[in-house]
Amino acid sequence: MTTYKIAILAGDGIGPEIMQEGVRVLRVVEARNDVTFDLVEAPFGAGAWFSHGSSFPQETKDLVDTADAVVKGPIGLGHEESKQIPVDEQPERGALLPLRRRLNTFANYRPVYLPKSLAHFSPLKAEVIGDGINMIMVRELVGGLYFGKKHVGVNDAGRRYVEEMLEYDEDQIANILHEGFKLAQNRKKVLHNIHKSNVLKSSVLWNEVLEEVAALYPDVEVKNMLVDAAATALCLNPTQFDVMVMENMFGDILSDQGGGILGSLGLMPSACLGPNGKAYYEPSHGSAPDIAGQGIANPYSMIGSMAMMLEYSFGMVDESRKIWDAMQSVFAAGFSTSDLSKPDSGVQMLSTSEFGDKVVEHLIANP
Ligand code: NAD
Ligand code: IPM
Ligand code: MN
Repeated sequence: MTTYKIAILAGDGIGPEIMQEGVRVLRVVEARNDVTFDLVEAPFGAGAWFSHGSSFPQETKDLVDTADAVVKGPIGLGHEESKQIPVDEQPERGALLPLRRRLNTFANYRPVYLPKSLAHFSPLKAEVIGDGINMIMVRELVGGLYFGKKHVGVNDAGRRYVEEMLEYDEDQIANILHEGFKLAQNRKKVLHNIHKSNVLKSSVLWNEVLEEVAALYPDVEVKNMLVDAAATALCLNPTQFDVMVMENMFGDILSDQGGGILGSLGLMPSACLGPNGKAYYEPSHGSAPDIAGQGIANPYSMIGSMAMMLEYSFGMVDESRKIWDAMQSVFAAGFSTSDLSKPDSGVQMLSTSEFGDKVVEHLIANP
């Protein structure tokens, strides 16, 4: 019997609601495998700041250091509520970026997936979706603007002034590019390199390193695309993409657009992978303050993040596949969560926990 210690950081807003459904799915997997999931909850996010005086308390740091994997719900407050917390202690800066740095999760996989059968969820025309959208955005997660030197003050002219640096060294760039190439090798052998080398020197270096790394993957075709053009291409011709690789900020923005072309951020899980098997798993989206507490959030992103954990951290590829199948089967059977469909669209609307019920039923019926 293998035991995995899993840190459960439920987070803020819809976090606890969707985490609950993810945990139910994990319990089904546990019950039918020779495995024990030791799930340990810990405070993390804005709620932790109010209850523990820190958005990333020491007990949570100790837990993530010793856990075999970490699953994390979204954190953060709405625009006005955020002002209750000092800027540097707000959970995005005070908890999430430190978590990424701590585990050095440089590789963020954000799948953007919608089978043809679920094309009705997308705002795009069926003919644009064709046989389905199926890409992975590989986002660098511990460098760039997010982690560069910052200076806030007053300039020589007496004006409030800020400087925020976009920093990368060649090893950081090579590391994430290797991830992109390896993934492309195992998929369609096409890698879209998303950059802005017509303006940014960071992208010039990125593309230099790319040419060096590409030489090690002669079977992978590289397609270079400027990030602004990529934003349009995602809407007009998303099926051209299979694996996309990009720096941190580009990946933040384009992956939310990925959620947009699917129909909701609720369909966006992710895996954040570091060296030496360190990893954490989280939806790509935020805490959705606009719908928190209503029991209507789509838990697909959270359950999908757990499926990614089973695959990447524990090698439980079959169970992971079954979870994806279960979730897609629920939707394909004519059900929807409210983010994906209008009330009069002929689908049967499910609450967060009803979606969890259906997924669990499907998993049990299909061992
Ligand atoms: P958001 O991603 O929380 O919400 C954007 C829209 O998507 C909202 O209309 C929301 O209702 C919807 N949505 C998101 N997830 C959904 C789900 N699972 N089911 C149904 N609908 C869903 O973005 P925001 O409102 O700009 O940010 C809210 C807070 O979340 C901010 O504090 C932000 O910093 C934080 N945030 C955290 C993370 C994270 O923890 N990784 C990621 C993004 C944003
Ligand atoms: C995401 C989020 C985070 C990011 C924020 C909350 C720090 O938007 O995971 O996409 O910008 O990386
Ligand atoms: Mn984001």
